[in-house]
Amino acid sequence: MKAPRANRYRSHWAGDLAAANAGETPRVAGWVHRRRDHGGLIFIDLRDRTGLLQLVFHPERAPEAHALAQSLRSEDVVSVEGALELRSQETINPRMATGEVELSVTAIDQLADADTPPFEIESFSGEVGEETRLRHRYLDLRRDEMREALELRDAVVKTMRSHLGERGFLDVETPILTRSTPEGARDYLVPSRLQPGNWYALPQSPQLFKQLLMMGGLERYFQIARCFRDEDLRADRQPEFTQLDIEMSFVEEEDVIELVDELMREVLAVGGIEISLPIERIPYAEAMLRYGSDRPDRRIGMEIADLGDVFKGSGFKVFSGALGDGGVVRGLRARGEFSRRRFDELTEKAKALGAKGLVWAVLEADGWRSPIAKFLTAEEMKAATGALGAGEGDVLLIVADSAEMAARVLGELRLELAEPAEGHDLVWITDFPMFGWSAEEQRFDPLHHPFVAPAGDVEGDPGTWNSRGYDLVLDGTEIGGGSIRIHKPEIQRKVFEAIGMSPEEAERRFGFLLEALRFGAPPHGGIAFGLDRICAILAGRDSIRDVIAFPKTASGGDPLTGAPAGVDSRQLRDLGLPVSPPRPAA
Ligand code: AMO
Ligand code: AMP
Repeated sequence: MKAPRANRYRSHWAGDLAAANAGETPRVAGWVHRRRDHGGLIFIDLRDRTGLLQLVFHPERAPEAHALAQSLRSEDVVSVEGALELRSQETINPRMATGEVELSVTAIDQLADADTPPFEIESFSGEVGEETRLRHRYLDLRRDEMREALELRDAVVKTMRSHLGERGFLDVETPILTRSTPEGARDYLVPSRLQPGNWYALPQSPQLFKQLLMMGGLERYFQIARCFRDEDLRADRQPEFTQLDIEMSFVEEEDVIELVDELMREVLAVGGIEISLPIERIPYAEAMLRYGSDRPDRRIGMEIADLGDVFKGSGFKVFSGALGDGGVVRGLRARGEFSRRRFDELTEKAKALGAKGLVWAVLEADGWRSPIAKFLTAEEMKAATGALGAGEGDVLLIVADSAEMAARVLGELRLELAEPAEGHDLVWITDFPMFGWSAEEQRFDPLHHPFVAPAGDVEGDPGTWNSRGYDLVLDGTEIGGGSIRIHKPEIQRKVFEAIGMSPEEAERRFGFLLEALRFGAPPHGGIAFGLDRICAILAGRDSIRDVIAFPKTASGGDPLTGAPAGVDSRQLRDLGLPVSPPRPAA
């Protein structure tokens, strides 16, 4: 880091001082990280963002500074000046970047007092509850781990900006106060004071604006964009999160994918992950069959196999019945010891996921040990064992159900039963269906969003349409998703219709888009990445909260500021909203 402008607080960064500076009289500022009183000498490790520097206070050489140092406590803020001295050979600390030197303090200025922190910055044990950490995030951020995560995030963003900037992408900001941009979540709404009864929605993504930018002839856009989604939170989901959002005109899938391949190689290298190009691609159907998921973690070897051929004419009605109804019989092979109780737990889990049951079998020397062995022929068991590549001692788990349910259950079991191997797994998922059937709403739902271009014809059963979408998956996490977009109004209308939207509703909600598409829209496409997710993986953290400076808790709150909070009845009246007292937080 470039040296700071020398002022009354500091002339140098603490972490920069080294043997080469010995003999100088630098001034440094920061926090009292650790204090050791050796009767005569007092040692303090001073911390600023760049690192630690050992300060020494001599009772004779600088009695005033020494006296003040006696009363200093952890996290007090000080500025000190002194002589930078080489440490004697025995006192060199190889674990400290500045361990060859120490500052013999001649003058100290105490700039602020610190109360006793609710947790130790110096010896943070990881046992501190997250609620406490978030409540005092400014203390949490003083820890190396948090600082390093934010430094990594900064490096990732800089790499993205320079990579895209060099390729002609313009960084354009899009509105936060806008209309609903559906990405499958609920909207955050903001009431309008000037137009009572009307509401802005916060963007779930800049999707429609980036498409409008392409219609505006800007050709290549990117933005580090904040997105807002009111949905249930998890380790990898926040109500507001950040996307690297990209859009390009006159492109096809291959153009976007190639751009991203190279971008990802650079971005992942920031976190020390080397990848070789091209990034592999798997069609959606294959991912669902082999891994039971459209975000497979292929570091888990356990693959799902189809047993339809084996059990086609089976006397076991659970299997032949499922196949007769257009369903599937699929299974996987697990290793390890399984008790009866464990099988019961797994069966319960399968049922909780919606399956009708789970068949298990242990391969013993003399054949299958399984509650259903008596219903199967020796040939069936042999063929199934072969299809799953199993041998003596292995365990088979088999589901007979719809293809979706079998994928869901076996996909979950894969994750539960095996640990991923070392290393990383990056893969494109391509050839998605356009829609999934929502049983709840009795209509088709877009797998991505309603602006994705269909691949091929848009005739007949929408359940059979395919999309021009693609997702990028890293270690079993969806880190990005995009598509080629619809650029013709009549296709956009058909897609709205396919998801059960009447022409009137389409006009009311998306009339502005349908109109824009009539004025010469270029073919275009793009992608968006979850920046928080990428950074969490690169930083080796389980939760994206660890790479966000001020995240929300699982219940969507911010323990530091107390948001969300009640507002003055006056503010509500100004907005024309009914005044009611806030309810206590759940
Ligand atoms: P999508 O909805 O797939 O696509 O979002 C893109 C990426 O954003 C990340 N992400 C999230 N990260 C943290 N918290 C969340 N709640 C959250 N939701 C999504 C994921 C995801 O892959 N407009 C389209 C992109 C496009 O078509 O170009 C979109 O938003 O990593
Ligand atoms: P049943 O005939 O319902 O008593 O089921 C016999 C065995 O098959 C039990 O172990 C069930 O858990 C299991 N089973 C039932 N339905 C299914 C299914 N659709 N897929 C897999 N196993 C099932």
